[in-house]
Amino acid sequence: MKFPVSRPRRLRKSQALRDMVRETAVSVNDLICPLFVKHGRNVKIPIQSMPGYYQLSVDHTVKEAREINRLGIKAVILFGIPDRKDALGSMAYAPHGIIQETVQRLKDAVPELVIITDVCLCEYTDHGHCGVVKGNDVDNDATLELLARMALSHAQAGADMVAPSDMMDGRVGAIRKHLDENGFSMLPIMSYAAKYASSFYGPFREAAESAPSFGDRKTYQMDPANAREAFREVELDVQEGADLVMVKPALPYLDVITRLRSRFDLPIAAYNVSGEYALVKAAEKLGWIDGPKVMMECLCSIKRAGADLIVTYFAKEVAKVLKGL
Ligand code: PBG
Repeated sequence: MKFPVSRPRRLRKSQALRDMVRETAVSVNDLICPLFVKHGRNVKIPIQSMPGYYQLSVDHTVKEAREINRLGIKAVILFGIPDRKDALGSMAYAPHGIIQETVQRLKDAVPELVIITDVCLCEYTDHGHCGVVKGNDVDNDATLELLARMALSHAQAGADMVAPSDMMDGRVGAIRKHLDENGFSMLPIMSYAAKYASSFYGPFREAAESAPSFGDRKTYQMDPANAREAFREVELDVQEGADLVMVKPALPYLDVITRLRSRFDLPIAAYNVSGEYALVKAAEKLGWIDGPKVMMECLCSIKRAGADLIVTYFAKEVAKVLKGL
């Protein structure tokens, strides 16, 4: 039916009507809050390019996790900053590494909070790449064993879910097999399945001290120009046993989320990455945008695109807005 019979504005007349016909809502259940953990006590180091975000020692991380839990957020994802790095990232799978210790403390302090761990070597290697370097590149198959060991050590510490973000081929299968063989067949894997070689990770690399010392990540992370390739990546990860898949970054890749949503039935997460957070915070600081409103619009668009879960540095702020705080 055409205008003037059809008038879409009729249903926009009042707040109540708009609320009634709203198609998408962000819920506190959708949020996963990232945390950066560092050795030491009473350490709280601001991250310059991520206002409001800090590297935290374990004691502060426990406090933060309690607050996150009080706000109704269901899950955190942990990134560790080790005190020692080497070529093989051995602190990533050390029984008393920073993540292993943090997971234990968090499970004691806030048992109901879902603890997800990021599984990737880049924070732990002295060259900053996500795996074992041979020549000028990362050796895929040599890296798989280390990732599997890392995931198992997180599981043994008590993690509720592991999230491989390295983008090696076959890593979900290698991790699944190693977990299953060691009594963790019920531990879910959230794979960063479509992770792009993005410049939006800049602030994270400051936060996690994980910038590559040479080259870039283009031989393992996806080309930003490719969407069809995301089907292949997800297909492989699903075959290898991924329980949830992730698209990363989120906002510049909403089309990828939508396409994956139409083809796959398993839950899809999107990572609203550090650069997306920094853009909003910077423009807000300059007085150029209304930060909280832009934040809510960004998260709503990620849901509208088809994501079920959103990993976001805005998690606490969003939870407060949703609670009317
Ligand atoms: C580890 C990892 C990265 C991010 C999450 N896990 C960085 C990278 O791949 O260089 C980025 C997250 C963000 O930017 O918020 N590989």
